[in-house]
Amino acid sequence: NWTTGNILEEQIERIRNQIGDARVICGLSGGVDSAVAAALVQRAVGDQLTCVFVDHGLLREGEAEQVERDFVAATGVKLYIANEQERFLTALAGVSDPETKRKIIGREFIRAFEEAELAIIAEAAAHGEKIKFLVQGTLYPDVVESGGGEGAANIKSHHNVGGLPEDLQFELVEPLRALFKDEVRAVGAQLGLPQEIVGRQPFPGPGLGIRIVGDVTKERLDLLRKADAIARAELTAAGLDNEVWQMPVVLLADVRSVGVMGDGRTYGHPIVLRPVSSEDAMTADWSRLPYDLLARISNRITNEVDGVNRVVLDVTSKPPGTIEWE
Ligand code: XMP
Repeated sequence: NWTTGNILEEQIERIRNQIGDARVICGLSGGVDSAVAAALVQRAVGDQLTCVFVDHGLLREGEAEQVERDFVAATGVKLYIANEQERFLTALAGVSDPETKRKIIGREFIRAFEEAELAIIAEAAAHGEKIKFLVQGTLYPDVVESGGGEGAANIKSHHNVGGLPEDLQFELVEPLRALFKDEVRAVGAQLGLPQEIVGRQPFPGPGLGIRIVGDVTKERLDLLRKADAIARAELTAAGLDNEVWQMPVVLLADVRSVGVMGDGRTYGHPIVLRPVSSEDAMTADWSRLPYDLLARISNRITNEVDGVNRVVLDVTSKPPGTIEWE
């Protein structure tokens, strides 16, 4: 078992041998893989590692803080934060086509990351040092899939931190190459990472940008963040986090329907709940969540989130539906 103390130590030793006294950078996405990869490398080489977090403003409630505060507190990692919310909002303004959104988010992410890289390279140069390595949170299934590429690759252009351009100036450090997801979570827990990070469900690189059907604005993001936070809190409170693979919450920003509130008519947007069960995200079934849980989520979202007057449940399996709506 990879996670028993000795093997963990061996792995840390391996990383130390690979990196030596060079400097290394690692992008953090807020997800499990990059967090665990960074924590391992931090254990191995300490402050030779600088992590980069590009905050694109498309994360869910509390997630940026999890990286900036909780991850740093748990690991002592040196973190460079690029606050790029405005940049992504500007680049996405008026865009509602899903693939165009994905491409814009991917492109801006790479640019923002490269700018952060340059700043760190300059800082290192001022100390007469060079950045030699880039950490990637590649897992075993990614290794197996690469080359052929997964079948779904042509359906949606995927973006994540692991997919950064292979910057030839860096050598790669891939400490998770032999591991499956559950093993990565176990290693993360052993390294003392917060449960909110280690237990995090899959979340797409383009984030909430592809959970707004319609164009992306600050107001819509804030609205969706509120609805999503309610749905997640209720799912957790019901003890069903482990039953559900993931539960995208989607804002149909281009749709409005009539409702009633008190004595007045409302004309608001629907929120879609998309809870699915799955083994690997290649196929999925819609989760049969208890009615009382669905009722609580619906009541809370329609009462607490201004502009939303309807909550609907997606009862489509994959295929033919994909998990995400865009
Ligand atoms: P779909 O919607 O294709 O999603 O059924 C399958 C799984 O992939 C996640 N997903 C992404 N993950 N970058 C990612 O890292 C992406 O661009 C991306 N798009 C979808 C999705 O959340 C689901 O787990």
